[in-house]
Amino acid sequence: MPVDALQVKGLHRSYGSVRAVDDVSFTLPEGGSLGIVGESGSGKTTTARIVVGLERADEGEVLVGGLPRTGRTRGRAARLARARQVQMVFQDPYLSLDPRTGVEAALRETLRLHFPDRDHTKRVRELLDQVGLGTRAADALPRQLSGGQRQRVAIARALAVEPAVLVLDEAVAALDVSVQAQILNLLADIREQTGIGYLFITHDLGVVRCVTDEIVVMRHGRIVEAGPTAEVLAAPRHAYTRLLLESVPRPGWDPEAIAAHRRAL
Ligand SMILES: Nc1ncnc2c1ncn2[C@@H]1O[C@H](COP(=O)(O)OP(=O)(O)O)[C@@H](O)[C@H]1O
Ligand SMILES: [Mg+2]
Repeated sequence: MPVDALQVKGLHRSYGSVRAVDDVSFTLPEGGSLGIVGESGSGKTTTARIVVGLERADEGEVLVGGLPRTGRTRGRAARLARARQVQMVFQDPYLSLDPRTGVEAALRETLRLHFPDRDHTKRVRELLDQVGLGTRAADALPRQLSGGQRQRVAIARALAVEPAVLVLDEAVAALDVSVQAQILNLLADIREQTGIGYLFITHDLGVVRCVTDEIVVMRHGRIVEAGPTAEVLAAPRHAYTRLLLESVPRPGWDPEAIAAHRRAL
């Protein structure tokens, strides 16, 4: 039986009286792509941060490749091993890229940290290739790159450690629509080539349609609906999912009717 890349079981996380994550469970099969959708404040980022290990859960369990991710890691080797399991790509790569470090140097730094004994020259080329960055970009600093190129660098750096799971939190939200499409295509190609599983977090139902096999819909920290992406979007069973679909701007769109539906929910 294939081992699941990621299993999340009964996660809870409260901030004071706010239940940010309230009994969230899902499974990401090896090489699969699972979307988490929901409006702002529904608990998507908190879930992602718990999965990655940037945030602790009050309750619940995260397993990678069938093994529990330990709550606390002691020592450098354990921390690095843990980081190699799950990597995260954020909405704004500016915040995760060092402004003074060029693209190639940043990749080398990551590779040196995780694989000190390997020769990195070939691997750097491979990574740049994989994310569609030419050798000309290799020496560029983050500010000399476009938003799309910076996100490619962030993806390359995440891939460098050969993770089992990539968590993408609104990773294309800040990009122009045409650049968004390029990055989504790139992510689809990379998944095919590498078999890395994606946990793809977005408020955008158009995006989730492109890059996920399954989705969970979150509202107020809870999962209200889950299933194959195409099915959920074609025939949503929960009123909140229907509301999200209605809320996508299109011709004939009626924001006031949507507001009324929201009040009735
Ligand atoms: N560090 C924090 N301290 C206090 N409240 C938080 C913190 N992080 C998230 N929250 C709250 O938890 C809820 C879920 O937030 P978040 O996970 O960021 O949702 P999303 O990513 O879906 O927009 C929100 O009400 C948010 O204000
Ligand atoms: Mg968020």
